[in-house]
Amino acid sequence: MINKPIGVFDSGIGGLTVAGEIMELLPGENIVYFGDTARVPYGPKSPEVVTQFAYEGLRFLLSQDVKIIVIACNTVSATCLDRLCVSSPVPVIGVIEPGARAAMSATENQVVGVIGTERTIKSRAYEKAIHALNEQINIHSKACPLFVPLVEEGWLENEATFYTAKTYLDPLKKQGIDTLVLACTHYPLLKPILGQVMGKDVRLVDSARETAKEVQRILFDKNLKRQDDSPARYRYFVSDNSEKFIQVGEGFLKKPIDPISVIDPQK
Ligand code: DGL
Repeated sequence: MINKPIGVFDSGIGGLTVAGEIMELLPGENIVYFGDTARVPYGPKSPEVVTQFAYEGLRFLLSQDVKIIVIACNTVSATCLDRLCVSSPVPVIGVIEPGARAAMSATENQVVGVIGTERTIKSRAYEKAIHALNEQINIHSKACPLFVPLVEEGWLENEATFYTAKTYLDPLKKQGIDTLVLACTHYPLLKPILGQVMGKDVRLVDSARETAKEVQRILFDKNLKRQDDSPARYRYFVSDNSEKFIQVGEGFLKKPIDPISVIDPQK
C-alpha cells in the first residue's frame, strides 16, 4: 500500500499546479495524474454532468491502484466531493478547505475576493468554507470563465489576457479586498498578470500548497508514506490532445511530461 502512487485528478492541465506542489513537498512519492482534456472545461457544465465526469475520473484513478486521490479541480470539489469520498475505498481530498484556510491566514482586513469557474462560484462552496472558519470575513466572489481557455491556450502573459483580467478584477479591487483566492486550478498560472492587475497590496492565494500539506498530513497519519529510495515516478494520462498538454504543462512544471497516455475515461 505505502509504495502505491498518489492520484491527482483535474478536468485538464490546471491540476498540475497542485501536482507540482505535491512533487515539491513530497519528492519521494509516485504520482498518477489524470486530466480530462477531452471534456474540459467543467466550469460551465451542470452539476449532474460534472458529477458523472468526476465519477469516471475517480474510477480511472482507482484502476491505477492509487493510495489517495486528490481532486485538484475546484469545480469538482465544489460540486460532489462528499459523494466521491463516500464512494472511494481510498481517502479523497479536495481543494476548497485548504484554499479557505490559505485565505484566512492571508487576510488582514478581512475582505477577501474569490474567483473561480461559474460552477464553483454558483456553489458558494468557498464562502461556506471560509465562513466556517471565520464568519466575520467579508467575501466578494466573481466567476471568470474566460481564464480557463486562455490558460489552456498557453496565453499566460499576453495583452488579451491582461485586459480580460482587468475587466474581471477591477470591480473586486474597488471592494477593497486585500486577498484574492484563485479558486480554480488554472488561475495560479496567471499569477504574474493577476498580480499586475491587482497591485502589490493584494495577496494572491491558491489551494495548491495547502492541499499538498494536507496530503502530507494524511500520508503521515495513516502511515502511508512511501518507503522506497528509488526516484519517484510520475505518469500522466489525458483524454485527448496530449501534445498541447505536454507543451503547456512542461512550460509550467519545468519537468518532462513523460510518459503520457491518452485514455477514454468512459471505458
Ligand atoms: N479545473 C477547473 C477548476 O479548478 C477549471 C477548468 C474547468 O472549468 O474545467 O475549477
